[in-house]
Amino acid sequence: MNLNNAWVVITGASRGIGVTIAEEFAKKKANLILIARSMDGLKKTCDQVENLGGKAHAIAFDLEKISQIESLAEKINKLAPHIDVLVNNAGLEKYCFFTKYKREDITSVLNVNLIAPMELTRLLLPGMLNRRKGHVINISSVAGKLGEIYNTLYDTSKGGMELWTDALRQELYKTGVKITSINPGAVSDAGMIYNIGVKYPVLLGACTTQGVADAVIKCTSKYKSRVFINSLPIKPFIIVSVIFPRLVDTIFRWLGITRTNIKKVEKRMKSDQQKAAKENKKN
Ligand SMILES: NC(=O)c1ccc[n+]([C@@H]2O[C@H](COP(=O)([O-])OP(=O)(O)OC[C@H]3O[C@@H](n4cnc5c(N)ncnc54)[C@H](OP(=O)(O)O)[C@@H]3O)[C@@H](O)[C@H]2O)c1
Repeated sequence: MNLNNAWVVITGASRGIGVTIAEEFAKKKANLILIARSMDGLKKTCDQVENLGGKAHAIAFDLEKISQIESLAEKINKLAPHIDVLVNNAGLEKYCFFTKYKREDITSVLNVNLIAPMELTRLLLPGMLNRRKGHVINISSVAGKLGEIYNTLYDTSKGGMELWTDALRQELYKTGVKITSINPGAVSDAGMIYNIGVKYPVLLGACTTQGVADAVIKCTSKYKSRVFINSLPIKPFIIVSVIFPRLVDTIFRWLGITRTNIKKVEKRMKSDQQKAAKENKKN
């Protein structure tokens, strides 16, 4: 696809991987519609995009609010004559012991990571189908293929995203509209794993925000249905886990994922307590 003047929607563009994806589209002179909750973050990304020769519009929106996504789609359609690329990138994870999750945690992770991408795509896809042109790019994760201890909600959301992408890809056959799942491993230089500040087991490999953004841009010109991005081969693990799931569980324990993720749970609990204390002080 020629990205010069193309209209590209990117969710989760206020920080992390979404910023680098926006910058790469900007270098191709695309028109961007950037979505996230933080208008401050979005404004910064818009400035970066414009410095690189792209044009950007920011829409502050909370993707947890599924029933309001129709109004988001209306805003997008007012700004853009058509949509060429939709990058479903926004996401969150909450490390926790499963029984300690609150019902709201289940809703928020599944809404932002899975239901919102499906709903936004459902609303923007008809325009692409009418033009017989368009590309939906889902930023999924290796976690959608391999469950990881204490991250059950995130893994479920990404696993759902994987199957939704697979099924929709078949539905889109010969329509001119494409769908791709991008599956990064741990991202080492920014984003949710980097921010939590717990070292990821080196033997599982990693990737960079630039690696993810490059894969996104590349699949718009040379189509791929799924892209794994990891410094070490992850596919053998995925294949083995289908047939021998407990063998991979054992390897993961041996690699130290249980220890690492307990630290993530502890960090998350601490940061939740600090947030709650701040809120209490305010009230
Ligand atoms: N980092 C990794 O190692 C890694 C690995 C594999 C896959 N991924 C995937 O890559 C994508 C980007 O992750 P990241 O690492 O860049 O995360 P991040 O740095 O935490 O950024 C997440 C982005 O999503 C937005 N977002 C979160 N909740 C939202 C909500 N309720 N409504 C609207 N926007 C929301 C955030 O913006 P606001 O807070 O301003 O709303 C932010 O722009 C995610 O889908 C993630 O699952 C990341």
